[in-house]
Amino acid sequence: MQLNFMLCALFMINHCKLIELPKFNDARGNLSVIEGGQHIPFDIKRVYYLYDVPGGSDRGSHAHKNLHQFIVAMAGSFDVVLDDGKEKKRFHLNRSYSGLYVCPMMWRDLDNFSSGSVCVVLASAHYDADDYIRNYEEFLTLTTQNKI
Ligand code: TYD
Repeated sequence: MQLNFMLCALFMINHCKLIELPKFNDARGNLSVIEGGQHIPFDIKRVYYLYDVPGGSDRGSHAHKNLHQFIVAMAGSFDVVLDDGKEKKRFHLNRSYSGLYVCPMMWRDLDNFSSGSVCVVLASAHYDADDYIRNYEEFLTLTTQNKI
């Protein structure tokens, strides 16, 4: 697990990317699929989702030490702002057949939720409060220490 932490410090924000998922178009309704280790670069241990998000709300504002995540706008749209301690990038998610891979040690803020939006997050590990970094100054200290 410590290895992920070190590797991500090397890859930085460029390691995070939008991934398009397979889409089976069908007159009866489209179908997309996400297989862990196949379409996204980790095995899926947990799924959680944000819904009924009031207009103007922000979520996130933390980083994870070891967790890999894949974020999909299953309905509506929202923005994810990623920050590796050096560079920030804003991604607009509004498709259920693509998502954003977020590697460990990436500060994330979610905002600009449209009404009725549903944010589904696939995660590489079970919930662990100790994996969170919730203080931005602490995050900056850790990312600085781990960059070569
Ligand atoms: P939190 O991660 O702080 O939400 P955000 O996505 O806005 O950063 O989680 C909110 C609450 O939900 C917190 O009390 C912890 C709980 N929670 C779980 O119990 N299990 C989970 O898998 C997640 C993601 C959160």
